[in-house]
Amino acid sequence: MSKPEVLVTRPLFPEAREILERHFDVEYWTAPERISRAELLRRVADKDALVCLLTEKVDEELLTAAPKLRLAATVSVGYDNIDVPACTRHKVVATNTPGVLDETTADLAWTLLMAISRRLVEGDTWMRSGTWPGWDIDQLLGGDVYGKTLGIIGFGRIGRNVARRARGFQMRVIYSDAAAAPTEVEKDLSARFATLDQLLAESDFISLHVPLLTETRHLISKAAFEKMKRSAHLINTSRGPVVDEAALAEALENRKIAGAALDVYEQEPKVHAALVARKDVILAPHIGSATTETRTKMAVMAATNAAALFEGRRPPNALNPEAIGL
Ligand code: GLV
Repeated sequence: MSKPEVLVTRPLFPEAREILERHFDVEYWTAPERISRAELLRRVADKDALVCLLTEKVDEELLTAAPKLRLAATVSVGYDNIDVPACTRHKVVATNTPGVLDETTADLAWTLLMAISRRLVEGDTWMRSGTWPGWDIDQLLGGDVYGKTLGIIGFGRIGRNVARRARGFQMRVIYSDAAAAPTEVEKDLSARFATLDQLLAESDFISLHVPLLTETRHLISKAAFEKMKRSAHLINTSRGPVVDEAALAEALENRKIAGAALDVYEQEPKVHAALVARKDVILAPHIGSATTETRTKMAVMAATNAAALFEGRRPPNALNPEAIGL
């Protein structure tokens, strides 16, 4: 019997390929450049499944172009690249990769927090320029991390892992979310619920961990920067459009806040020109989950989701099992 056909928009990793090749006839996109939209639409047209990355949009147009499609598996936890209601209408099961990247992404949020507070990238640039004159009393003075207030916006799995790490730095942790976390969680993480306004006003470091939704787009806007401490640093490892980049550039220029460390951008791969020019900003290239261990786990998870559906089982990470009455 012939196997179902899957398009995979990157070769992924051997561990994931092994699962995919056992269950599917696999077509990989292997060119060094990312697959173009036109090529994606052309290649997915006759496929039963798609394993894609967060850079590929699964929307009404793609779903219409691929009438046989039954599954779209994104190798990411964020699935704002997938129009889930449209998938449901087209009887396509969508899946993502939650859980396996929480610790890794929390590590990167902390990497950025430490690096911006101690001006590490500025220091590195200085050393490489060959102009460092040697130690002096007032060089590259940053701010302390220990004992400060960390404000976590979005207290899901990743936000909680960021909170856990703060204990070692004796920080006060506050968080905001749609609802307060269970008391045991708050106790375990020594974290306290706050309104968004309280959090913005009290935090020395503000770390974003919300998904991109209509309600979270530009959550951090001009009005939010107005409420922050002038000494505050903003860390974003969630999704770029959660922050209004133009408002961020303006807030930094007007010294409304002290700095920002970003891993995600409003219009990737573009970065707002005014941010690129600033020393009080660290720019990382969307590497929140980018460790070999974690990216391998994510790819295996996507492949496992795809395999499950075609074995007649509910994919473990189905976002819309109702699409096919699972
Ligand atoms: C990365 O940004 C992800 O959503 O997995």
